[in-house]
Amino acid sequence: MSDLPIVPVLTIDGPSGAGKGTAAAAIAQRLGFHLLDSGAVYRVAALHALRNQADLCDEASVLNTFSSMQATFEPNGLAGVAVKLAGVDVSTEIRTEQAGNAASQVAAMQRVRAELLDEQRAFRQMPGLVADGRDMGTVVFPDATLKVFLTASAQERAERRAKQLNDKGITANIADLIREIGERDERDASRVHSPLVPAEDALSIESSALSADEVVQQIADAWKTRVERTS
Ligand code: C5P
Repeated sequence: MSDLPIVPVLTIDGPSGAGKGTAAAAIAQRLGFHLLDSGAVYRVAALHALRNQADLCDEASVLNTFSSMQATFEPNGLAGVAVKLAGVDVSTEIRTEQAGNAASQVAAMQRVRAELLDEQRAFRQMPGLVADGRDMGTVVFPDATLKVFLTASAQERAERRAKQLNDKGITANIADLIREIGERDERDASRVHSPLVPAEDALSIESSALSADEVVQQIADAWKTRVERTS
């Protein structure tokens, strides 16, 4: 038996665009916890692989690039995490659709996932961690105190994404976005390794009709109840 204190973890999993990142950053700030944006870990790994001319269809080729990868993740309040690759800020670059698709490609590779496991678990530090992704509650932190599975309809997620793009002055076609979201969901949910599925003991929240604040409040209430029950 170890005397080490157990660091509490709150996981938020779900498909892209369901609002996990926004909710995770807000909850982490409220609780004063560390934040793991695991999507950013896969995105930066994919960007590094691309920059090093790896073949994204070839697991060994992607893995070969990892030994030279120097990525850092700094908390950045409600904006989530600031990500640096080899000392240069790539926070914006990793958010493009291209980086997202590349991330989803390398994330389907089992050895890539295994290689990035320890890096993700290292975020688990006192006083606690909020981790968002696809397999936080199922694979990376199966003993999490609270597991949330956050969803929203493809239409709603596409509209949110279109608004984000419009705010940046980019015009987006909703039908195209729905198709892209559907394709990424399909790839994430049907892959063999760590597919996107809710943990058996996850609390499911369907956020289509909820504001970001309402989602955060529901998670904060569930956390409070869970912690009170277990302490
Ligand atoms: O969440 P985000 O859209 O940033 O993630 C980018 C991609 O990384 C996802 O489409 C998914 O394929 C992959 N990912 C994953 N497991 C995680 C987080 C992200 O496979 N825990």
